[in-house]
Amino acid sequence: MDKFLIEGGKPLEGRVAASGAKNAALPAMAAALLTEDPVILRNVPRVRDIGTLRSLLDELGVDSSVTHEEHGNRLEIQARKLLNPVAPYELVKQMRASVLVLGPLVARFGHVRVSLPGGCAIGARPINLHLKGLEALGATIKIEHGYVDARSDGLRGATLYFDAITVTGTENLMMAATLASGETLLQNAAREPEVEDLADLLKAMGATIDGAGTDTIRIRGVTRMHGAEHTIVPDRIEVGTFLVAAAITGGHLIVEQAEPAHLTAVIAKLAEAGVKVRTQAPRALEAESSGKLCAADMTTHEYPGFATDMQAQYMALMTQAEGSAVITEAIFENRYLHAPELLRMGADITVNGRRAVVRGKTPLSGAKVQASDLRASASLVLAGLAAEGETLIDRVYHIDRGYERIEEKLNKVGARIRRISD
Ligand code: EPZ
Repeated sequence: MDKFLIEGGKPLEGRVAASGAKNAALPAMAAALLTEDPVILRNVPRVRDIGTLRSLLDELGVDSSVTHEEHGNRLEIQARKLLNPVAPYELVKQMRASVLVLGPLVARFGHVRVSLPGGCAIGARPINLHLKGLEALGATIKIEHGYVDARSDGLRGATLYFDAITVTGTENLMMAATLASGETLLQNAAREPEVEDLADLLKAMGATIDGAGTDTIRIRGVTRMHGAEHTIVPDRIEVGTFLVAAAITGGHLIVEQAEPAHLTAVIAKLAEAGVKVRTQAPRALEAESSGKLCAADMTTHEYPGFATDMQAQYMALMTQAEGSAVITEAIFENRYLHAPELLRMGADITVNGRRAVVRGKTPLSGAKVQASDLRASASLVLAGLAAEGETLIDRVYHIDRGYERIEEKLNKVGARIRRISD
C-alpha cells in the first residue's frame, strides 16, 4: 500500500487546476446504462473510483473505453445489452456509489441484482430511501443473501418525498424516472451541483427534467433515451481542499478550472476564519492566508450549506486558528476519524458525538499517521503540509479514490510530498 512522506512547513505558491468531479462522473457513468447508444463523458477525473465503476460496467457486460485528454479523461460507454444483471459484493463493497446502477438497470432492463454496499468508515449509510423510491415507481424489491433483487415490468411515474436528503438517492430515482411512464415528482430532493450536472446529461440524452438543483425535481418519462456527449463539472471539494492548502501553509494559490458558485458556503466560512478568497475570472479562485486565522464555528449541511466532504479539511485548518472552533457534523454519524490522527500531530481536539471542539492555535509536528477514508486522508495531507518536520501517511489509496495525483499537483506549487510505493 502506498504511503506519502511529507516535509512540512513550506507555504504553497502558484496555480493549481482542479479535475472533474468524481461525484458527478460516477452518476454520469451510470446514466449511460439508460441507452443502447454511446455516451461520451469528458473531463472525467483520473481517480480510483472511476476505475472501480468501469470494472463494474465491464462485469455487467457494458463496453467502455478511455482516452487521455488535456483536461481529464474522455470516457465512452455503450450499454448495448446487459450480459450479466449482477453488481457483485466484491465491487460494490469497494465503492458504495456502485448502487447508482440500480435505478438505470431496473428502468431499462427490468431486472438487476445489486449487492447491498454495507457500511463504511463514516457511517452505516443505508440505501433504504433508494429502495423505497424504486418501489414507489412500481419496482418489486427483495433483499436476499446481501443482495437487492429489483424487478419491474415497466416503471410508472409517482410523487416521492425523501425522508432524508440523499444525493445518490436523488440521482438513482431521477435516472429511473426518465424511463418510467408518466410524470415523477421528487420532493425534498438533493440540490448538489452534481445532481444538476446529472440532470443536464439526462436532458441531453432526451429526458424532460425541470427543477434539478432545487428541492423539487419533475421528470416526465420517455420511451427511450439516446446517446449524448457531456463535460463533467469541476470538483468543488478538490477546489475547497486547495483553498485550505493555501491558507494552512500561509501561502497563496490560484485554483483554476473551478466553479466559485459551487462553494459559496465554504468561501464564506473561510473568509470568516481570516482567509482571503477572491474570484478570479474565468473560473478560478484565489486564496491566501491573512497571516492570522481565527476560529469560526461550522456545521455541515446539505447543499448549499457547508459540505460534509469539506469538514475534515476545515478541522485541520482550525488547528492553526486562534481560539476554539465548534464543528458539528450533521450528515454522517462517524466522520471524525481524522481527529485522533491530528491529535498525534499536536492538535487539541475534543470529540463528543457529532460535535468536535478544536482549540487553536497549536503547532503541528510531523508524525506517522493513518488514513481511514477519502476526506480524512485529505485532512492529514493538509496537516502534514503545515507541520514542522516529516509526516508519513499510510494507506493513501483512500486519497487516490477521489483526488487525481494530489502529490503531483501540490508539489508543483511548492509542497514536498513523496509517494512511497510498497
Ligand atoms: C454522497 O454520498 C457523496 N458520494 C458523498 O461523498 C457525500 O459525503 C454525501 O453524498 C453527502 O453529501 C457520492 O456522491 C458518490 P447521502 P451519498 O445519501 O449519496 C442518509 C466523498 O467523500 N441516507 O446524501 O451516499 C445517510 O446515512 C463521498 O466523495 C439514509 O438514511 O450520501 C446520510 O446520513 C463520501 N438512507 C445522509 O442520508 C438512504 O437511503 C446523506 O447521505 C440514503 C441516505
